[in-house]
Amino acid sequence: MVCFRDLAQEVKEEVIAWRRELHRHPEVSMQEFRTAERVEEELRKMGIEIRRHGDTAVIGILKGAKPGKTVALRADMDALSLTEENDVPYASEVEGVMHACGHDAHVATLLGAAKVLSQVRDQLPGTVKFFFQPGEEVAQGAKLIVEAGEMDDVDAVFGIHVWADLPAGQISVEPGPRMAFCDMFKIHVTGKGGHAAQPHQTIDAVVASAATIMNLQSIVSREVSPLDNLVVTIGKVDVGTRWNIIAGKGTLEGTVRGFCPELQAQAPGIIERIAKGTAAAYRAEVEMEYAKLTPVTMNDPKLSEMATDMVRRLYGEEALASIPKQTGSEDFAYYCEKAPGVFAFLGVANEENACYPHHHPKFDVDEGALDRGVALYAQFAWDFLTGEGK
Ligand code: NI
Repeated sequence: MVCFRDLAQEVKEEVIAWRRELHRHPEVSMQEFRTAERVEEELRKMGIEIRRHGDTAVIGILKGAKPGKTVALRADMDALSLTEENDVPYASEVEGVMHACGHDAHVATLLGAAKVLSQVRDQLPGTVKFFFQPGEEVAQGAKLIVEAGEMDDVDAVFGIHVWADLPAGQISVEPGPRMAFCDMFKIHVTGKGGHAAQPHQTIDAVVASAATIMNLQSIVSREVSPLDNLVVTIGKVDVGTRWNIIAGKGTLEGTVRGFCPELQAQAPGIIERIAKGTAAAYRAEVEMEYAKLTPVTMNDPKLSEMATDMVRRLYGEEALASIPKQTGSEDFAYYCEKAPGVFAFLGVANEENACYPHHHPKFDVDEGALDRGVALYAQFAWDFLTGEGK
């Protein structure tokens, strides 16, 4: 059995150098041109086959010496529109753009994993695919890779997110729902406008909208089991133009989040029924636009067990962390719909430089933990393909 802990140590300096280089050159979602070029360049040096999709998705394909299953390892590559406030030698050189979520660390550690896996290619059964994914922050990249057919031959998928709420080196690979689904909707309310002094001649879109907002609150309180978690939020209301005019039209915008795929399937029907019923009570009409942005990120119980055993073997019981499921969402979920997967959280927090939350202008990672990311990616692939994992 190959243990990747020491191999990961050997590439650690290079991984940190890649991470710093990427950090200096952040690129926003779906425009990761330079990043994709650099990834391709490094993968070629390792003798790894490349396929490209869209403008910036890079798929590396490492075929082992023997036939076998296929495993996919994923790193997202995009940065955020944010001005960095860290005073470090590797700070962003692009005004208004910053790697404030740690995706630079994901790319660097997956490159490290590609390197160490390519060193044991002769002993490797099956195929490892490296997904260097664009556009996670806009939930477009994973979809693009799935639609290109890259998941069709994949038997298991593994992803990592570096995590600011966990001390450096701690790892969570727990089973079940790990990140929420995320939907977005717009409700267009149509009434009949008129003079504020003559309401009887109108159908007031303000009143119909207000009643709709209030009635939507009953979904969580009265319709969903108290044991399930669901969020229904109206974040934007656009209705009316002036104090003495009754509005004829309004638009409500909101989001639904939760951890239960059945609830995600039911949510559009419930929201539309309440919106239409409420509007009808006030003689108004409703049309709804509804978009499912990401499914639930769901860790497969068996693979999660394999990953737990892997963490124990690599770094001991004390490296295993337990964190609650997260109400943020991840487009990694699209891969989990195609094959069983595990999404791991790797702690990168410390009290010196890495003590700010994700998406903060002072976000940074404890680079001392990055070799663990390399080992996790590589060992997961090895354990799954060789069947040597638990
Ligand atoms: Ni992120």
